[in-house]
Amino acid sequence: MDMLKVDGLTKVYNGKVTYEALSNINLTVEKGEFVGVMGPSGSGKTTLLNMVSTIDAPTSGEVYINGKQPFRLNKNDLAVFRRRELGFVFQDFNLLDTLTIGENIVLPLTLDTRGMREMKRKLEVVAEKLGITDILQKRTYEISGGQRQRAAIARAIIHSPSLLLADEPTGNLDSKSARAVMEMMAEINQTDQTTTMLVTHDALAASYCHRVVFIKDGELVNQIVRGKNRQAFFQEIIDMLSSLGGIAHELSSVRVS
Ligand SMILES: Nc1ncnc2c1ncn2[C@@H]1O[C@H](COP(=O)(O)OP(=O)(O)O)[C@@H](O)[C@H]1O
Ligand SMILES: [Mg+2]
Repeated sequence: MDMLKVDGLTKVYNGKVTYEALSNINLTVEKGEFVGVMGPSGSGKTTLLNMVSTIDAPTSGEVYINGKQPFRLNKNDLAVFRRRELGFVFQDFNLLDTLTIGENIVLPLTLDTRGMREMKRKLEVVAEKLGITDILQKRTYEISGGQRQRAAIARAIIHSPSLLLADEPTGNLDSKSARAVMEMMAEINQTDQTTTMLVTHDALAASYCHRVVFIKDGELVNQIVRGKNRQAFFQEIIDMLSSLGGIAHELSSVRVS
């Protein structure tokens, strides 16, 4: 079953000059798949993610998520759709400093007014899964970047979204924390069959995906599928990035696989 289908997606920004940031993108992601999106800076990755996450509307083309067309919904229904069907992870964590980590994680549930008991139970399950049970009473400034991102992932999956979307989730992490975060995302994908789309510059992070699509100048130009071996996939990703050009130099710190 297709969990995500992007059909002929085009985005034109109308500023002082009009700019076609995405041109006729077609992409299908099956339920349970873990797909990476890579490409040079300015190639349209965030634009694509913003359409899939329904934050910004396409100029033309369709987005289907779990059989629904979010851009055909009215404003209220779209807000509910986003809250129930999607989970977001960002580079800068987006946790609220005024809440404890536990309160941050249950926030998406409080908006749908579930009972306290159910919230508590779900919090225990995700905290255990992400290995952050012992920091639920802490505040954001009392924990490490890696712990913050794990808390952000817990928040993103606590409502069992149809689609988990992550934009550079390892961008602010040291390599050890980045690896831990990717291992957890891969684990969640595998055990819960959470369909995941990851935008990243980081070849190591991308190597945890099942498939990586490459975007250049707003067009999908290539994709590679992982075999059994993650290390070999990592090398294939590096090779693809350098063959596309204009990206290799952006790998400011190519991590050893
Ligand atoms: N709101 C906007 N208005 C005008 N141009 C934009 C806007 N957002 C992005 N762009 C342009 O669209 C292109 C793709 O941007 P983006 O999707 O952010 O790329 P990436 O995430 O791959 O770095 C870039 O040339 C960028 O300058
Ligand atoms: Mg971007």
